[in-house]
Amino acid sequence: MQANKHGVAVVVLAAGKGTRLKSQLPKVLHPLMRLPLLEHVLRTVESSGISLGQRCVVVGHQANVVSDFLLTRSGEVWNPVLQEPQCGTGHALQEVAKAVTLGECVLLLSGDVPLLRVETLAKLKQAFDEQRTENNVAMLVVGATVENPKGYGRLLQSFDGQLQAIVEEKDATEEQRAISLVNAGIYALHWPTIAPWLSQLSNNNAQNEVYVTDLVAIARQHHQTVGVFTLKDDSEMLGVNSRADLAECHRLLNERTTRHWMAQGVTFVDPATTWISPEVLHIGSDTILEPNCQLLGPVSIGDNCKIGANTQLVGVVSIGNHTSVLASVIQDSTIGNRCSIGPFAHIRNQTVVADDVRLGNFVEVKNSSIGANTNAAHLSYLGDSDIGSHVNMGAGSIIANYDPIRKTKHRTTIEDHVKVGCNSVLVAPVAVGKNACVAAGSVITEGVAPDALAIARPRQTTLAGWVSKTLSSLLIK
Ligand code: UD1
Ligand code: MG
Repeated sequence: MQANKHGVAVVVLAAGKGTRLKSQLPKVLHPLMRLPLLEHVLRTVESSGISLGQRCVVVGHQANVVSDFLLTRSGEVWNPVLQEPQCGTGHALQEVAKAVTLGECVLLLSGDVPLLRVETLAKLKQAFDEQRTENNVAMLVVGATVENPKGYGRLLQSFDGQLQAIVEEKDATEEQRAISLVNAGIYALHWPTIAPWLSQLSNNNAQNEVYVTDLVAIARQHHQTVGVFTLKDDSEMLGVNSRADLAECHRLLNERTTRHWMAQGVTFVDPATTWISPEVLHIGSDTILEPNCQLLGPVSIGDNCKIGANTQLVGVVSIGNHTSVLASVIQDSTIGNRCSIGPFAHIRNQTVVADDVRLGNFVEVKNSSIGANTNAAHLSYLGDSDIGSHVNMGAGSIIANYDPIRKTKHRTTIEDHVKVGCNSVLVAPVAVGKNACVAAGSVITEGVAPDALAIARPRQTTLAGWVSKTLSSLLIK
């Protein structure tokens, strides 16, 4: 999506300290289901289908950390605008007005309000266009009626429903605090109307901050109309100011994602303890997720899979159909159809597992490809290896991929139908040819030809009668 000169400008406020979180990390970078709060907001904008113009993020507290995040994330380019010092949300907008040229319509969002839906943002823009045509609105304020309005700015309406002002909790009278219609911290602004008023904002309030919310009262003084865009689902406006808010955000987001997948035919034995990030791409029908599973990232799971209790799928993970994963961790890897993984397997770093594979108890696989019908059922480490099909890796077999002297890693190749005996070590780089066997307990440092048997351990010595001859005199009868 290219920035369009006539497109909608988006400003995201992210300069505040987040004092109430008591953290070293800037508030907007606190993770919510693996992604920073700010990332949720930016993705919502990027997926809204709105034709975008200028995109900026106001940075201030730990500005370099937040700016670095903007530079390193994938997705659209967002320009950081520095607000130094941070004198409030209105001051943040004043700094933006000084630094960049904005188009007609400006969407002003908060970096700490991450649950706004993509569809809602698109509807806000649409409502703004309609109300601009019908009533010439100067701005739309997103609001919702909530059970517990504590901490939010209250929306003050006149008898005819006109929005007159927003009063912050700390400045509100008892009577005003009883109002349950609150400000979500999200606005659509008609910039040519609003921009000249920015100089009229003051910090004459309980927090000595310049409030963006005062624009509403200023608009009314200029006899301009301000509309309210009411959210049907108030969970979309939860602002994260404390650790308790962050936990509540996790809960609400999870409720949203698990409901979505249940509607697609996925069973959650206990949705409250199964964590599904909004990044998850696909979960096939009749797949069952047991309690305490976490799917965190662009994860795809096929049909009829069983993702057993205490499993974590993290990053880019793809799982075929009819596969079962039990109490295991899979990171950035691909697993085929009808595989059986775990319990207690760890599969990571771009491992690719074909169909009908068994990777069982305490097996770790790293950056490897595993062919169809191959088994490594117990206590193995398979690192940096290319393993063919119908291979059996015996219990305790290890691929020693790391050379600690040169601090380098090497690859190992094991061709189809190879049998590696229990407790063998294959010291990389090494290749084992098709149909070959490695005897149990071997340490393989040289290549094994196809069809060969490699034995790399001392021969067994059996001393007949040794016990009675040598030891019997010492044994206590
Ligand atoms: C703000 C609103 C309040 C609304 C609530 C919704 C004001 C004055 N109040 O209160 O009406 O109900 O959001 O969540 O706007 N920020 C800056 N620069 C600053 C101060 C803040 O960029 O100088 C950023 C913060 O990083 C944050 C956002 O603005 O992302 C909101 O600031 P915050 O301090 O959280 O305001 P609230 O008290 O939540
Ligand atoms: Mg806030």
